[in-house]
Amino acid sequence: MPNDAARGDEPVVRHDRDDARYVLRGHDAGSPDAGSPDAGPAGAESADDAAPRAPVDGTIAVWAPGAPAPRRSGRALPIALIAVAALLLLALAAFATTLVIVSQQAAGNPFRDRALFVDPDSNAARAATGSGTEAQRAAASRIAESPAAIWLTPERVRPGTASDAVADTVAQATAAGALPVFVVYGITDRDCGGFSSGGLPRDEYLDWVDEIAAGLGDRTSIVVLEPDSLALASECPDPEARTALVRSALERFSGTGAEVYLDGGHSAWLPAADMAELLRAAGVDQARGFATNVSNAQATEAESAYAARVSDALGGAHAIVDTSRNGAGPPADGQWCNAPDLALGEAAHAVDDPVVDAVLWVKPPGESDGTCNGGPAAGTWWPEQAEELVANADRLAGGS
Ligand code: BGC
Repeated sequence: MPNDAARGDEPVVRHDRDDARYVLRGHDAGSPDAGSPDAGPAGAESADDAAPRAPVDGTIAVWAPGAPAPRRSGRALPIALIAVAALLLLALAAFATTLVIVSQQAAGNPFRDRALFVDPDSNAARAATGSGTEAQRAAASRIAESPAAIWLTPERVRPGTASDAVADTVAQATAAGALPVFVVYGITDRDCGGFSSGGLPRDEYLDWVDEIAAGLGDRTSIVVLEPDSLALASECPDPEARTALVRSALERFSGTGAEVYLDGGHSAWLPAADMAELLRAAGVDQARGFATNVSNAQATEAESAYAARVSDALGGAHAIVDTSRNGAGPPADGQWCNAPDLALGEAAHAVDDPVVDAVLWVKPPGESDGTCNGGPAAGTWWPEQAEELVANADRLAGGS
């Protein structure tokens, strides 16, 4: 219900489960947050040193060699020198501060200078050598080459087996000298009635998260915690309990090497201030930050701007942006579930930015969002979609 009210000038989306669409509401496409930089004159000279003076008759007085130089007062030179020296010192101090900030960001960004793990056992990798047409296998192979997140669901990684399964993947990634990215997706009332409904009861869920944390150990890894859980909370039976559960799950990673990003919806869903409030309540200050655009197709620029607003409201959390299927941007009609005409987005890479740490494929392209628009069950490999995503990306890139 809160999704129905347009707040501020931000786009608001109503999540309509009946027709499986997000419907854009109150979106003023013509009012991006185009900041107007303060364009003060930099390095303005004193009136004495600037343009030649205009005498009263309107002609320009020009100093010519041989003529006596325009006079300065006896004190003007030392004052000017002191001013220049002070300006230089200020500029030097500003430069040094910038260097410190940039190096701190670089040091804190877990994606910097690290290759991401490519799972040899992904759905895409298996489809690349499985049945299907040649074009479908070629598309699967293209997708399988790029790093994508590994989703941990209780259906695939059952309670009691999660620790070993995760430790095994971490060991493979370590052997490959790469950083593994996991998505934890098993919260109670997961997807609240949507296509990915399920999840574990509260206590079992937290035990399962404990297992995952044990499997991760102290090696650096990335965890995207519970896509949609917070942005969707108002549509779930007990929003407060849900936020508290995300917070408890987050706490379970505190002794591990995981850099955790809570899910932060996307730019066409909740207003940034509301998203920030939910993230704060879920303890984002104990995490590296939040993820945006997971399984959605909003453009990277829109997501970066949104992430900056959410981060501002939080006092500086970091973010990652899912680019798995956003190469062509979102469909005009706001569809999100196996939306037609999508294209692969930018492959994963670290970003040198105060807020956005990286863009990466969180949703594995080619896996269905659910039984909508002709797709199979959520998470199932869908060869037709894989082929379309690759073909559209190639077309946009001017290829075949
Ligand atoms: C599904 C998961 C799947 C994930 C990634 C979700 O919508 O519910 O089973 O792992 O998408 O494809």
